[in-house]
Amino acid sequence: MDNHDFLPINGTDYVEFYVGNAKQAAHYYQTAFGFQPCAYAGLETGITDRTSYVLQQGKIRFVLTTALVPDSHISEHVKQHGDGVKVVALWVDDARKAFQETTARGAKPYLQPIVKKDGDGEVVLSGIHIYGETVHIFVERKNYNGIFLPGYVKWEPEYQPTDVGLKYVDHMVGNVDWGQMNIWTEFYANVMGFKQLISFDDNDISTEYTALMSKVMSNNNGFIKFPINEPAKGKKKSQIEEYVDYYRGSGVQHVAMATENIMYTVGELRKRGVEFLTVPESYYETVSERVGIIEEDINELRKLGVLIDRDEEGYLLQLFTKPVEDRPTVFYEIIQRKGAKSFGKGNFKALFESIEREQARRGTL
Ligand code: FE2
Repeated sequence: MDNHDFLPINGTDYVEFYVGNAKQAAHYYQTAFGFQPCAYAGLETGITDRTSYVLQQGKIRFVLTTALVPDSHISEHVKQHGDGVKVVALWVDDARKAFQETTARGAKPYLQPIVKKDGDGEVVLSGIHIYGETVHIFVERKNYNGIFLPGYVKWEPEYQPTDVGLKYVDHMVGNVDWGQMNIWTEFYANVMGFKQLISFDDNDISTEYTALMSKVMSNNNGFIKFPINEPAKGKKKSQIEEYVDYYRGSGVQHVAMATENIMYTVGELRKRGVEFLTVPESYYETVSERVGIIEEDINELRKLGVLIDRDEEGYLLQLFTKPVEDRPTVFYEIIQRKGAKSFGKGNFKALFESIEREQARRGTL
């Protein structure tokens, strides 16, 4: 194995959701999550089959797209999956090469390299299929100075709530169907040149009732981390199986967004109506024994429901929202890293028991 990175990636470029009503979804991400209005495309810009709103917070860019016509892959996606992630776009220096390198290694093409231009320059886009109906689009924007992509105009509504301190995408998790975890981790290894960071099996991630398996794949510079989960057999239905049932297949489960001040961020999100998973009070009685001394006041963390975990390199603070749509599918993680590079394994059991309580209420456990 040579160490040459055949697919250098600068970061996550954007995450595009196909949704039932992009105007209302945009309002939700502005109001509840503090995303800032960025760009728009729709009827007013000459697009007749769809509308897209682009929102940004720190380096995190979300695109919310809805169909304006029934006969559309967007409306079909929403019919099948509900609101969900269609595109995980990756920022590269050479989108043609990214397409060649990945398709030569077996990736299924989604978008042949295409140049898009406007008065602000040009971008090159290309794309490949990943799990389920999800795709990666490679975005080359070194010759572009516009607000987002050619075809979009600046979106400047009067209503602009403040941000909540979210900075960048820390990782994005895919849930895949039974028996497919290794297929997709091998895809990331062989087709995209990623390495496996960590593996969790059902001994690590199980409760009395449910289990799952997970492997974390990372690109060469570590900017992109994709854990892949699959359900494992337990006494009852795991959250991954519930996701796959309601999403009708594999898809993005959660986007973890980093903050440098989780107390502020979570306090704001709660004020704005974002709902989080809760752990029992008993979690905080034993947490100090498990994680040792930390800078934050445990009592303050308890009030906000923030969870703590430690690894060899430091600790992390994290918290998970409930699903943000009616199907129990996509949710968010808020994470602050204090040296730790791991994913909160010490919190898995408490979290999964919390999710099981939610599943029991939904009748899907
Ligand atoms: Fe996560």
